Amino acid sequence: MALRCDLIIRDATLFDGTGAPRRVGDVGVTGDRITGVGDLGGATADREVMATGRALAPGFIDAHTHDDRAVLMGCDCLRCKSSQGVTTVVVGNCGVSLAPLTTTARPPAPLDLIGEDGWWRFDSFAEYADAIRKTPAAVNTYAIVGHQTLRVRCMGGDLARPANDREIAEMRRLVAESLAEGASGFSTGLWYPPNMHATTEEVIAVGEPLKAAGGMYFTHMRDEADRVCASIEETLKIGKRIGVPAWISHHKCSMPENYGRSVQTLALLEASASLQEVAFDMYPYPAGSTVLMPDRLRDDVRVIITWSIPHPEFAGKDLKEVARGWNTDIRTAAEKLLPAGAITFQMDEEDVRRIMAHPMSVIGSDGIPHDAHPHPRLWGTFPRVLGLYSRQLGLLSMEEAIHKMTGRTASLFGMIDRGVLREGAYADLVLFDPARVMDAATFEVPKQESLGIDEVWTNGRPVFRAGAGMTGETPGRLIRRNRV
Ligand code: ZN
Ligand code: CU
Repeated sequence: MALRCDLIIRDATLFDGTGAPRRVGDVGVTGDRITGVGDLGGATADREVMATGRALAPGFIDAHTHDDRAVLMGCDCLRCKSSQGVTTVVVGNCGVSLAPLTTTARPPAPLDLIGEDGWWRFDSFAEYADAIRKTPAAVNTYAIVGHQTLRVRCMGGDLARPANDREIAEMRRLVAESLAEGASGFSTGLWYPPNMHATTEEVIAVGEPLKAAGGMYFTHMRDEADRVCASIEETLKIGKRIGVPAWISHHKCSMPENYGRSVQTLALLEASASLQEVAFDMYPYPAGSTVLMPDRLRDDVRVIITWSIPHPEFAGKDLKEVARGWNTDIRTAAEKLLPAGAITFQMDEEDVRRIMAHPMSVIGSDGIPHDAHPHPRLWGTFPRVLGLYSRQLGLLSMEEAIHKMTGRTASLFGMIDRGVLREGAYADLVLFDPARVMDAATFEVPKQESLGIDEVWTNGRPVFRAGAGMTGETPGRLIRRNRV
């Protein structure tokens, strides 16, 4: 009997996510799974999409996000991701997770990046997982618990010191509990004030349950500037001592005096990869973004304000201009803007390209979804890699670029049956025009849908269509790390 599917996408150029060469073929979907790949000439379906000249790939996995709250806010909040072809987001990065923490007060920066008042209401990871089940998103969620969140919860507001034994025991218990309830790892943001006084030994002690649970360790490292190599060594030590894979978030060499040092850092990471499991993500821009921190500002590094509570009118403005308008210096101006967020032009384009082209890297946006004037990576990361860096600049092939957004990412994270076009895999799919795909978001106008993304499916259901926007369907699930 002929194969019968819910959906068949015909005559597409298939990028299967493994990095293998593209080939022309059909893909059939039934329920939430891919049920046929290749020549489905004899098969029929309720819906058929003719895709001649179009590319079909596994839905993109955003390896680094701060979408903890966005995944609970209804589908339109994730148009920034679905319109890029993203079908899975990794939340809880940089030591910041929405669970497990309850507080009615505004939490210290950078926790306020993801949750304002009223959103810190998940006393356990189980409650957060339950919220994802009750109000599902258009994307799948893979979650990590953050050390900064745990320190705020367990240290009585006194964060400028290492945790004591009792606090460490409590944080360790919460990590173990969260992993049992569906979290996939533990993250630190050792560069940030609420986390920077944690010693290496504190991180190892709190992360100890990762090994038994099969979780991973993720980090926004202590220093991505002068001491970037020492920070990589610290990360490797933590991964080795806990006995789990170590993941370096948004790898970069920060500040002008460190430009070019990715030659060193990549050599170090390559050498260590033969000794232990280590991986890293990156975003395709020479500027970063986080909360505004006046004491870290420098006169030779450009800053754009992304939001400010007391002065929302300055979102999108250069800090230098704001300071000039107030007749003061940038540090004083920054103090007046707090709490606030910023984009910082702290990287070298050559380093960005070297890290992107390196076979070990995967793509993660690090987008911040609640900023008034967000860094353009929130809307543009994946089409920018495909359109600018692959098609126009030839830095990496389309096959390699897609592998870094799908198959490689899924296998490193332990996402079973995701990130590949294969019979039996989940039908997370993106259909796009390989000749036209491109980011449109800029530092000046950051909230713009990318070009060339035709349709996106999560778990077999259409979530985004070009021209029509979000479909309103929310088939996303909480997914977790599995060890094969
Ligand atoms: Zn970070
Ligand atoms: Cu981040």
